[in-house]
Amino acid sequence: MCCCHWGAQTVTRPCSWVFTLRTGAALCLSMGSYHCKCEKPPWKGARRSSYYVVLFLMIGVLIFYIWFSRLLLPLTIWRVRNDTRTISPFHHLTSQFFVEYPHRYQFIVDQPNKCRQERPFLVVMIPVAPQNREARDIIRCTWGNETRVLGRLVSYYFLLGKSRIGNDTEPPDEQILLESRTHGDILQSDFLDSYKNLSIKTMVMLEWLSTRCLNSSYAMKIDSDTFLNVNNLISMVMHAPRRGYMTGLVARDAQVLRDPHSKWFLSSDVFAEPSYPPYALGLGYVFSMDLPERILEASRHVKAVYIEDVYVGLCMKHAGVPLTDPPHDGLFVASPPSYMSACYLSSVIATLLQSSKEILYVWEVYKTQPQSDC
Ligand SMILES: *[C@@H]1O[C@H](CO)[C@@H](O)[C@H](O)[C@H]1NC(C)=O
Ligand SMILES: *[C@@H]1O[C@H](CO)[C@@H](O)[C@H](O)[C@H]1NC(C)=O
Ligand SMILES: *[C@@H]1O[C@H](CO)[C@@H](O)[C@H](O)[C@H]1NC(C)=O
Ligand SMILES: *[C@@H]1O[C@H](CO)[C@@H](O)[C@H](O)[C@H]1NC(C)=O
Ligand SMILES: *[C@@H]1O[C@H](CO)[C@@H](O)[C@H](O)[C@H]1NC(C)=O
Repeated sequence: MCCCHWGAQTVTRPCSWVFTLRTGAALCLSMGSYHCKCEKPPWKGARRSSYYVVLFLMIGVLIFYIWFSRLLLPLTIWRVRNDTRTISPFHHLTSQFFVEYPHRYQFIVDQPNKCRQERPFLVVMIPVAPQNREARDIIRCTWGNETRVLGRLVSYYFLLGKSRIGNDTEPPDEQILLESRTHGDILQSDFLDSYKNLSIKTMVMLEWLSTRCLNSSYAMKIDSDTFLNVNNLISMVMHAPRRGYMTGLVARDAQVLRDPHSKWFLSSDVFAEPSYPPYALGLGYVFSMDLPERILEASRHVKAVYIEDVYVGLCMKHAGVPLTDPPHDGLFVASPPSYMSACYLSSVIATLLQSSKEILYVWEVYKTQPQSDC
């Protein structure tokens, strides 16, 4: 045994204890004689308080981490409730993971009668950022110019939010108005256009379809960085049910991503179950015209998550409408081959590209290369 002197105190401990203390608080001067003198180092007080500070910081970080990952959420009073207009002192942190969709956005640039008058068989809706004029022009001169296909009329509309938060009286952008006058295909609503607001955009799109396109049979939502084979689309839809129909690349049993760094992170207070109900991936999905109204009705009872396609899937589930798989695989493609041949392009309906610029290149291949020996 060794003994250590702590000021006036004498403590007897096994030597191993002294050895471990040596580096920290105690200094052993004499070991061989089973006797050691422990000196209180002059910096001990300062060091001890810095230990406390570090300890507090670690506990703080741990609590924050646990709170953030929602492990303790069912136990806390900050649980985000049904109505989503809540309560949490950290509301600004949680609010980005769901969106509020109050059903009250207005169109500031609209085509109120065009769809009703033209009565297209299928309406293609393309969400795009207001400033992305380039993508709109590319689509207009590629697949967006295919308006009569297999004897059916197809029409195309671009769906925009506002590019900045303005006040209610602020007029729409001059450029957008001009573009709308030239092409007649712009729909702009007065919510702020952002990635986290895409669910709002989709709901606004459904509102527009359900009020302005009553005499159309089908609609499709498609991303702007996508190649669309309108011919294959129409030929598939011509054999599809007229009601309760939605198809695309259907994800089943998709796991909810709980990593806060993921682009599609969703915390368990916003969505508790480990996997999503079936939903059609947002790159492109097609639906019969009875669905916009049914999805909107369901959306009044389903808390809006910011992942647009998942939210539509949640509403479909609530409405009790099952998703339909496309007639065969490979029609809707989220990870296309690096080289897209004319044969490939003539076999798909929608395939995701790296950017809307790539549509130009792919369109050239599709239109100019022979598809006879596919
Ligand atoms: C939450 O919503 C569900 C379904 O919409 C409803 O049955 C339930 O009563 C609501 N709970 C509260 C606390 O409002
Ligand atoms: C669209 O196609 C028509 C022919 O069908 C063609 O005359 C017109 O120039 C095309 N428009 C664009 C923008 O490519
Ligand atoms: C709203 O925007 C308009 C046009 O930009 C401006 O004239 C007006 O002063 C703004 N009103 C408020 C309350 O900010
Ligand atoms: C979504 O749009 C609303 C309405 O314009 C706006 O208040 C909100 O800040 C937007 N949210 C995001 C994340 O951009
Ligand atoms: C739809 O078309 C039918 C004729 O096919 C017409 O009677 C009806 O008024 C149209 N509905 C709307 C809302 O335009």
